[in-house]
Amino acid sequence: MENGNIDRFDGLAPALLAWYDAGHRELPWRTEPTPYRVWISEIMLQQTRVEAVKPYFARFIDALPDVYTLANVENERLMKLWEGLGYYSRARNLKAAAERVVRVFAGAIPASREDLLTLPGIGSYTAGAISAFAYNEREPAVDGNVLRVLARLRADDRDVLDPHTKTAVEEELRPYIPEDRPGDFGQAMIEIGAVVCTPKSPRCSECPLRGLCRAHALGAEGSYPVRIKKTPHRTEERTVLVVVSDRSLAICRRPDAGLLAGLWELPNVEGYLSPDEATAYVRREMHLEPLRIEETSPAKHVFTHITWEMRGYRIRVAEPETDVSPFVFADRGTLSRRYAIPTAFAAFLKAL
Ligand code: ADE
Repeated sequence: MENGNIDRFDGLAPALLAWYDAGHRELPWRTEPTPYRVWISEIMLQQTRVEAVKPYFARFIDALPDVYTLANVENERLMKLWEGLGYYSRARNLKAAAERVVRVFAGAIPASREDLLTLPGIGSYTAGAISAFAYNEREPAVDGNVLRVLARLRADDRDVLDPHTKTAVEEELRPYIPEDRPGDFGQAMIEIGAVVCTPKSPRCSECPLRGLCRAHALGAEGSYPVRIKKTPHRTEERTVLVVVSDRSLAICRRPDAGLLAGLWELPNVEGYLSPDEATAYVRREMHLEPLRIEETSPAKHVFTHITWEMRGYRIRVAEPETDVSPFVFADRGTLSRRYAIPTAFAAFLKAL
């Protein structure tokens, strides 16, 4: 499997750490990476940029220097400290998690991923970050930025929007985390994603991983990470017209692109028409005079991204003399032999 080629992580740690050691941003949660400071900073950094976080981080740590002060802080004061950072549930979760640390873990922020994951507001990335950055455990800390770097490195074609991809990448990365420096390795992954392997216009000429990077070799940095957007499923109401004479049935061809491209269909329009609107349509578009109209049974057809909820009319007309573009008056006897009409219309063809 192309994308599962984990050999591509060979050589990653030495090259990355050499680059990190040659210079990186000095950040307050890096210079003194206690579990509490790493935790608070990672929560703040979830939705806020590094430069914006710095003053909030300093103020927060000054006001609430440990889990006990955080667990006991009044909500008003907590909200005031968080004011301007937004996403206030982050602050509420911090306090709830601090209460749990005090109650369940005797005031010690856990080191294991498993225990960290039991704390409110801590997901896989944050658990990995605390475990690796503060406790030097060999735990992957893979956020969206790290996922981007790793996707480019291996030209990984898996969808990064699929949560399974992240879980798989975490496990694939784990054996490559260096035993002696898990924390620095994790921080260096974040650093390279932030300053070199940026989402737009990555600075490949400055990248220490250039020689290992499959996306770079392919000249396809911009194609990774792969995001497969799911088209939301929608429902459309349609009116289908079964326009028949003694010998023929009105059909028309669908456009060459899109849903049911190029196939033949019964005339149909979006929305539900009244009988008057349906007869007016036949007069206007087909230049035919309806003789009789009756409602057919409704029908439903489910396509991949759309469902048609169809109502129909059977409309009797006199024998047409010529086709009226785009409609073709097909011989009812030879219809199925000559024209491919999709199953979506099957229920209405029964009304012939
Ligand atoms: N963004 C998220 N975590 C970070 C960290 N530890 N350092 C810098 N930026 C980050």
